[in-house]
Amino acid sequence: MRWTLLPLLLLTVLRRSQAKRVQERVPLFRLTRQGSWESDGSNATDSPCEVLPATGVTTLILENRSLERLPSCLPRSLRRLDGSHNLLSTLSMRDLRHLPQLQVLRLHRNRIAAVHWSPGGPEGLHTLDLSDNQLATLPPCAGSVLSSLRVLVLAGNPLQALQPRTFACFPALQHLNLSATALGRGAQNAIADAAFAGAEGEPLATLEVLDLSGTYLERGESGC
Ligand SMILES: *[C@@H]1O[C@H](CO)[C@@H](O)[C@H](O)[C@H]1NC(C)=O
Ligand SMILES: *[C@@H]1O[C@H](CO)[C@@H](O)[C@H](O)[C@H]1NC(C)=O
Ligand SMILES: *[C@@H]1O[C@H](CO)[C@@H](O)[C@H](O)[C@H]1NC(C)=O
Repeated sequence: MRWTLLPLLLLTVLRRSQAKRVQERVPLFRLTRQGSWESDGSNATDSPCEVLPATGVTTLILENRSLERLPSCLPRSLRRLDGSHNLLSTLSMRDLRHLPQLQVLRLHRNRIAAVHWSPGGPEGLHTLDLSDNQLATLPPCAGSVLSSLRVLVLAGNPLQALQPRTFACFPALQHLNLSATALGRGAQNAIADAAFAGAEGEPLATLEVLDLSGTYLERGESGC
């Protein structure tokens, strides 16, 4: 557990008040600790957080930072977080418990092989982009975990099959992108009959767009 002075890590911060694509580069972390983000239960201290900007930051772009975990000390005011092109290997709703305002989370092109839909995620999260990760399976999902989630992008994951009620814990889901997944490769009944059913087996009433393009499924088969 050594402290290491890394080259100044610049994070791009978009302040909501500065409308229209005005970007401001603000140094958020000066000191970080090697290995501290990949080892749970480490003797983590929050020192790097002390240099975080005060409240008011609503959008943070953390692309291409070789992050293995989301920093635990992000501003609580965040509404949009883009952590695409990093090295995250799991996503748990617990990781997001410090971000109660979060609405949009993009983790495109990480190495996420497991997600945990435990309760406690941000109530208002409406868009979750997990495209181009390494999800081969999705966990069972019960109750209303992300009650506001409208858009779930799972395109480009090696998903081969869907269990019944895979999406039942997203009662507001409108747009589900399973494009370019491995659905239909191997297993004969890749999509269980009730894959797109709610908790009681009813169809997901809110679903409007289901993209199964570029999968191994027979044309026209959708399981809906
Ligand atoms: C954890 O931090 C405390 C307080 O700084 C320190 O006394 C202790 O040695 C640390 N433990 C490890 C395993 O680094
Ligand atoms: C991150 O890297 C990807 C791939 O090299 C690139 O397309 C993207 O523009 C980069 N993003 C930033 C913010 O540098
Ligand atoms: C689904 O995701 C793929 C890959 O990101 C994208 O090309 C496609 O347009 C998306 N489909 C819809 C309906 O948005």
